[in-house]
Formats: sequence, C-alpha cells, structure tokens
Amino acid sequence: MAAPATLLKAVAKEAASCTLCPLYRNATQTVFGEGPVKAALMIVGEQPGDQEDLAGHPFVGPAGKILDRAMAEAGLDRQKVYLTNAVKHFKNEPRGKKRLHKKPNRYEVEVCRVWLRQEIEVVRPQLLLALGVTAAVALAGRSVVLSKERGKVIAFADGQPGMVTVHPSSILRMPEQEARHAAFAALVADLKAAVKAVAKQAAAA
Ligand code: URA
Repeated sequence: MAAPATLLKAVAKEAASCTLCPLYRNATQTVFGEGPVKAALMIVGEQPGDQEDLAGHPFVGPAGKILDRAMAEAGLDRQKVYLTNAVKHFKNEPRGKKRLHKKPNRYEVEVCRVWLRQEIEVVRPQLLLALGVTAAVALAGRSVVLSKERGKVIAFADGQPGMVTVHPSSILRMPEQEARHAAFAALVADLKAAVKAVAKQAAAA
C-alpha cells in the first residue's frame, strides 16, 4: 500500500483532469485540497471562487482572508489544517469581464464527492468541519439547518465526527457592520469548538 502522501498526490493528479460534470468547461483548473496529509482537522468549503480558480489553491480570495483571520483568532494554525472544497471546479457565469459565482447543484456536489471521499479516506481527520450548507449536505448526506446544528459535534455520513458552521463569504455579504462583527465572532466560537473537539478525540484515541 502506497504512503498516504503518495496516494493523495495520485488522487489530486486524477482530479486535475476531471470531466465528470460540466463545471470543468468554464473553470481554469481543478482546485484540489491542500494541507498536511495527517491533519487532525479537515475544513471543507463549497467550491473555489474566482481567485482560487486562477491561483489553483483553496481559500486564497476574500472568503479565505476571513477564514484566515477567524482561524488565527481561534488559535488554529492554517498550516496544520487540511483545507478543501465539496466541489473542485469554480462554477460561474460570465457577466461582461466578471465571472459571477453560481451555487453548485445537487448533481454536481454528488458527482464531485468522489474526490472529497478519497481525500477523507487518505487524510482520516479526527474531525470534519463544513463551512456552509453545500459542504454540510455533502458531508452529512442529508439536509442540514446550520443555525440548529452549528457548534456541536454531529455524525456525518459513515459515522465520521463533524461540525458545521457558516461559510465565511456569508459574513462578507452582510451589509451591517454590527451583524458582520457578530457573525465573525460566532464563526470564531465555532472554530474554537472544533479545536476543542479535535483535542478531545485525540485524548480519547
Ligand atoms: N469559498 C469556498 O468555499 N472555497 C474556497 O476555496 C474559496 C471560497
């Protein structure tokens, strides 16, 4: 059996030429997950955005900057986390010179799970943290109401321990500064809860 790092590289290579759904046609490249192959925490977003699509790396755009700030406040080192997305291609609609983000549909999320499943199988994180509903549904395999289930450990599909929280881009879209601050603080609290849950799993192992 190959070493986990070799396996993950092989999966990433295969994903780079993925044409399983039509999203590859409008995207620059597959944006595969990144981080230590033995990460205790895997954070899963929705899909790469415009900047991630161009750079080929997850969470390097505006949502990634919010996530970085929230992780820093929660005492989480980005270098120790495996960051990925439920969908590996940027779904967008060209509008003039811009490319507008479009939400992936159920079929696209389902088909793309082939890559997410393999990332989870190789990394085997202690905890999966879903950012936003798309990632939560992809991981839980059922509908999820974030406001009801955020911040506590729940069972994802196949019994994997997981948590859900909001997507950082939802904070960016809030028009009121006060609401943005409150939502950011709640995201930090959820990340801290994830750190605690990982420590608890490690102590029990
Ligand atoms: N939003 C996501 O869900 N993932 C990224 O990588 C960037 C923005």
